[in-house]
Amino acid sequence: TKKVILDVDTGVDDALGILLAIRSGEMDVLGITTVNGNVSLEQATKNTCKILQLLGKEDEIPVVKGADKPLMRQTYFEHRVHGSDGLGGALSDMEVHKTAAEGHASDFIVDQVRQHAGEVTLVMTAPLTNLAIAVMKYPELIHQVKEVIVMGGVVLGFGNVTPTAEYNMYVDPEAAKIVFQAGFPALTLVGLDVTRKALLTDEHIRLLGDSPISRYIQESTADYMKRYYERNGVKACALHDPLAVGVALNKELVTTRHYYVDVETRSELCDGQTVCDFQNRLSKEPNLHVCTDVSADAFLELFIRTLRA
Ligand code: BDR
Ligand code: CA
Repeated sequence: TKKVILDVDTGVDDALGILLAIRSGEMDVLGITTVNGNVSLEQATKNTCKILQLLGKEDEIPVVKGADKPLMRQTYFEHRVHGSDGLGGALSDMEVHKTAAEGHASDFIVDQVRQHAGEVTLVMTAPLTNLAIAVMKYPELIHQVKEVIVMGGVVLGFGNVTPTAEYNMYVDPEAAKIVFQAGFPALTLVGLDVTRKALLTDEHIRLLGDSPISRYIQESTADYMKRYYERNGVKACALHDPLAVGVALNKELVTTRHYYVDVETRSELCDGQTVCDFQNRLSKEPNLHVCTDVSADAFLELFIRTLRA
């Protein structure tokens, strides 16, 4: 099994990523770190605890709280997509008895990576604030993690918050810039270019059968799908964060190319845009393995097989 830390702003699709990671049986989830994003830090933490309770894993996996705001900016919640609670109204009457562990997410990341040098995969499916703080506190981190998978950005397509920016980049572009420029030898970007192809449909949900988990998935994705339909005209929803977990499980699900990528932080119009230097115009060393294509059917098959009743 792979040692992983999931960093989340739980969120409908973050929750699906957590379910996929834990149910895969192939990941030793050392902990889940939370951050401000889709919802507040407190709400993201509570949602994460609920998902662990749904899985019956609340006593095994620690949840550690991180940044309650972006490094330098006001925050921007995504309640229109994930509902005011972040889970699309699902699990609203679940009593939460799990609480967050002591300490800050950035310290948890550093401690775990030091303890298991060369073995830990970081799967980041939220604004990158926690990892940016971790790298600033402990620059050696870049040589001690096994790899980093980031759900975020878009290199050839359009944004999902502004015309050019994807949500996780938009919320904390300074953090993303720090992470991208930190020098991680193995950093994979799972952006909207590929996550928009990983679509969950009603038919898939039917294939999940009947179980507490499938009922949860159906309930939490109902409004998320509606919103996706309004925006994109497709009756489905994109499995952004679960695809990042999928890539951590199996690299062969995607095609990657090694490019130099930077994040815009000083433009009124384009902040949070991920700029990919396809033709090496800047003569910089490539820093990211950018996903350019995905075997969506193979990923959906993995998702359903792992989560079905
Ligand atoms: C990303 O933004 C969030 O709203 C989702 O949880 C995902 O991490 C997609 O752009
Ligand atoms: Ca997320």
